[in-house]
Amino acid sequence: MNSINKNSQEFSEGVTNWYLLNGRESLPWRRNVSGYKVWISEIMLQQTQVKTVIPFYKKFIKKYPNLESISSATEDDILALWSGLGFYRRAKNIYKSKEIIKKEYKNRFPRKFNELMLLPGIGRSTAGAIMSIAYKKSYPILDANVKRVISRYEKIDMSDKDVMKKLWMLSEFLTPINNIFEYTQGIMDLGATVCISRSPNCIQCPLNQSCKSAYETFDINKKIKKEKSKKKIYFTLAHSKKSFLLFKKNDKTFWESLWIPYDNQNLKKSNIFKEPYKSEVKNLNHALSHVDLDITIEIFDYKKPFKIETNLEHQWINKNQIDKFGLPKPIKSIIENYV
Ligand code: ADE
Repeated sequence: MNSINKNSQEFSEGVTNWYLLNGRESLPWRRNVSGYKVWISEIMLQQTQVKTVIPFYKKFIKKYPNLESISSATEDDILALWSGLGFYRRAKNIYKSKEIIKKEYKNRFPRKFNELMLLPGIGRSTAGAIMSIAYKKSYPILDANVKRVISRYEKIDMSDKDVMKKLWMLSEFLTPINNIFEYTQGIMDLGATVCISRSPNCIQCPLNQSCKSAYETFDINKKIKKEKSKKKIYFTLAHSKKSFLLFKKNDKTFWESLWIPYDNQNLKKSNIFKEPYKSEVKNLNHALSHVDLDITIEIFDYKKPFKIETNLEHQWINKNQIDKFGLPKPIKSIIENYV
C-alpha cells in the first residue's frame, strides 16, 4: 500500500473506530433506517442542529413513517409539521419530491445517487448521506461538520477560490469502501462534538496524530461574521370568536408559503379592515438566520368574522385548528396565548 492510501485508511479507521465507541448511536434516525427516513432527517439537518431537529423528526415520522403514508399529504400538511423549524423551502421541497417519487418511481424511494440528485432539495452531500447511511454505499459527503474536520486535517486554505473542489476531492479520497455507515455518521459526530468550530477538543480526537492543525489555538476557518440586517414589519391580525384571519405568504423572502396576519407593508389595510370594537398592539423580535425581525402586530377584535375582497389566499382559522397549518413560530405563539 502506498503512503497516500495508508493515510486515507488511517483517517477512515480512526473515524470509524471512534464512532463505535463514542458516536451518538441513539439518534432517532439511526434506528430502523430506511431511504425515506434518512432523507427526511438529512433535509431537516441541512440547516438545523441535531438537538432542535430531534422532536420535529419524531413528530414527522410518527405521522408519516413511510412514503405510502405521506403520499396524499398536501403542502400545507407538511408545512404544519415544519412549523417552528425554519427554512420552510425544505418542507416545500419534500412535498415536491414525494410527488415526483409517486409519479416517476411508483412511490418507491429512489436507490440510485443520480436519481436522488434530481429531487428538489437534494444536492451532492445529501445524496451522498442517503446513499451511505441508508444503502451502505460508499459516497462522500461534505456538510459543514465534514468541511471543518477535513479542512483542518489537511490545513486547507479556506480563502482559496477552488476550495470547494479541493474539499470534495479530499472527502472522496478519505471516504472508505467498507463500514461506510459508521464512517459517515462518525465524521459528522466528530465534527459536531470534538472538532467544533471555536475550541476543538484535540485531546479527544482520534486523528490528533496526523491532523495538520492539531492543538492549534487559532481557528483556521474563522469567518468574519456579517452584521445582520434588521427589518421592521407591521401586521394586522383580525380576531373573532377564537378565529384569526390569516393569509398565505406568497413571496420568497422568508416564511415562504406560511400563514401569517395581514402584512401592512405592501398593502393598504384601510380597504380591508373595518373599525374593530377593541384593539391591542404587540411588539416582538424574532431572529432569522440572515435578518432580525422587529414585528409590530395590531390585533383587531370583531364581534363576527367577515368576508374580505382580495385575491390573496386567506382563511379564518380557528385557534384549535392552527396545528394543521404552517405558521411561523412567533405568530403561532401570539395566537396560542391570545385570550
Ligand atoms: N448532520 C447532518 N446529518 C446528520 C446525521 N445523520 N447525524 C448527525 N448530524 C447530522
